[in-house]
Amino acid sequence: MPWVMMYDLTEPPMDPAPADELLRKRNRESLLKFAQAIGSRSLSSDSAPFRRHLAMLFETEGLDFRILSRTAAAALALCPVFKEMLEDADRLDAAAIRHKLRLPGYLEALDDPLAHRLLRRTFVVDLSFERLLTIIRRLYLEREEDKHWNLTPRHVRFMVSLACQCFNNEYAYATCATEEEALARVAMRLRRPIGSEDEGLVLEGLMVFAMYAPLWTLGVGAGLLRMRALSSNPDLQELAARQVREHLEEAEIRKTIRSFGMSGESVTEAVRGQYEESPFPRWLNITVPSAVPFADAMRKRFPFLGPVETNQPVKILVAGCGTGYHPIDIAMSYSDATVLAIDISKASLAYAIRQARRYGLTNVEFLHGDLFCLESLGMQFDVVECIGVLHHLADPEAGLRALRDVLIPGGYMRIGLYSRRARAHLRDAQSFVASRGLGRSPSELRKIRQELAAKVTSNDWKDKWAPTDNPEFYQLSNFRDLLCHTHEVQFTPAELGAVLRRLDLTFLGYRRLEDHTRAAYAERFPMDSNMRDLDLLEQFEAEHPDIFRGLQIFWLSKSRAS
Ligand SMILES: C[S@@+](CC[C@H](N)C(=O)[O-])C[C@H]1O[C@@H](n2cnc3c(N)ncnc32)[C@H](O)[C@@H]1O
Repeated sequence: MPWVMMYDLTEPPMDPAPADELLRKRNRESLLKFAQAIGSRSLSSDSAPFRRHLAMLFETEGLDFRILSRTAAAALALCPVFKEMLEDADRLDAAAIRHKLRLPGYLEALDDPLAHRLLRRTFVVDLSFERLLTIIRRLYLEREEDKHWNLTPRHVRFMVSLACQCFNNEYAYATCATEEEALARVAMRLRRPIGSEDEGLVLEGLMVFAMYAPLWTLGVGAGLLRMRALSSNPDLQELAARQVREHLEEAEIRKTIRSFGMSGESVTEAVRGQYEESPFPRWLNITVPSAVPFADAMRKRFPFLGPVETNQPVKILVAGCGTGYHPIDIAMSYSDATVLAIDISKASLAYAIRQARRYGLTNVEFLHGDLFCLESLGMQFDVVECIGVLHHLADPEAGLRALRDVLIPGGYMRIGLYSRRARAHLRDAQSFVASRGLGRSPSELRKIRQELAAKVTSNDWKDKWAPTDNPEFYQLSNFRDLLCHTHEVQFTPAELGAVLRRLDLTFLGYRRLEDHTRAAYAERFPMDSNMRDLDLLEQFEAEHPDIFRGLQIFWLSKSRAS
């Protein structure tokens, strides 16, 4: 029996020993398969062994733990103690939760290794959990002021995990005016010279503060001093690393980033402003792929290409690299590539460079600048990748032309663009955001988010798709990118076809389509076996408007004669 089959939780739990053994062996390939299988599992009953196995999976090196997030939250929600507290939170019964926070049985459940790993290592994408965590955070803040009950080591561990989660999601959770006033008092106490309070009290204050704002905002010197004073606590060290050291590292990196030029175009300036404030995507870990030569990957993607010849190393440009997930994935995916990644947002680049260092990459370089100024670099690339960028330009076609002009004849491009039909499901949420007339400060984004969440939970959302279904809803920058963008345009396949004809670029095909979509297309248009006819794809998308949820991602080639 394949061992992932052991996790059919519609059946009574089976013998956990074989999975324990496999997880202990830590064979990377099996772990990745297990994580993928488990990430899409729907659960129906509580199982302590399952929670333990999931917690062990969160120890896997080189895994993007987002694939475990929903299953981990679902597994915890089935555990009776969490279930009760989630129900309390759904009724907004803070008094019941306050009482339970002091009872050893409940605390023991909160101290579950799976809960800690879920909160510290990835993003919780569940509204019920968000409500529970928001209430628990407020209770810890109130306790910080009245000290009505004592903190145990279990509390301390949970507070650190909650502070990590709030940091991970960029403090997306709702706050009220009373909390903000209380937090200001906590911050004032923490900014006093060290020594005026005992260390335990400082530690408690720091943990509470870290649940509402990153510790570096206390003033780096003061924050660090206190962290050092408390460096014997490993949980607090983890908090300091995430909330102080990473920030300091990015601030240092920022000073070293070289620029090659900005166009100064007004839409691009507005977009730059957004990504300076809200670097995208907010990410923590990447699933490290097995590297292959670029030509092999290309032949596998498009067998009709025949032999693919490339320069060595293959020079790849990633235009609009954001916070680095995209170029880091590319740099790891090909065994023969060097990557130049550019972006107009220095905040995004600093995040990207920190992550590239963390993964020990030496084949990726980052530069600050506008894709409209690429010619000034005097470089040509074998491959150009640009995902989720052109649709934020005033003139996307001119942007694609600028990228084509730095591509060698015979080179390849991978582009990601919004689909007009697939984005229709966001229109109600986007109109709601626009109608609120609010700005885009963190507190305004939090407010818009809460209002949308309230509409969904009060069943005031007519569409079958709710914005809270989207994982991007659960981090502030990603939420802003999803629903509150300063400028976005969209394309249909036919519109894309017209642009490609004008630029003399050849469409090679879409990627990331579901197998059932490919099968349905093959049945509908058997004459287009490689799915390359954008007029037929236009018809097909009109009949299946959801096929490009997320983005339309496709490859192009430039003729050798250009
Ligand atoms: C939605 S993010 C996509 C990031 C990344 N490609 C990804 O898929 O994760 C768009 C990025 O494009 C960058 N960008 C927008 N206009 C640009 C331009 N004219 N030149 C270079 N980068 C640009 C933004 O700063 C932002 O980081």
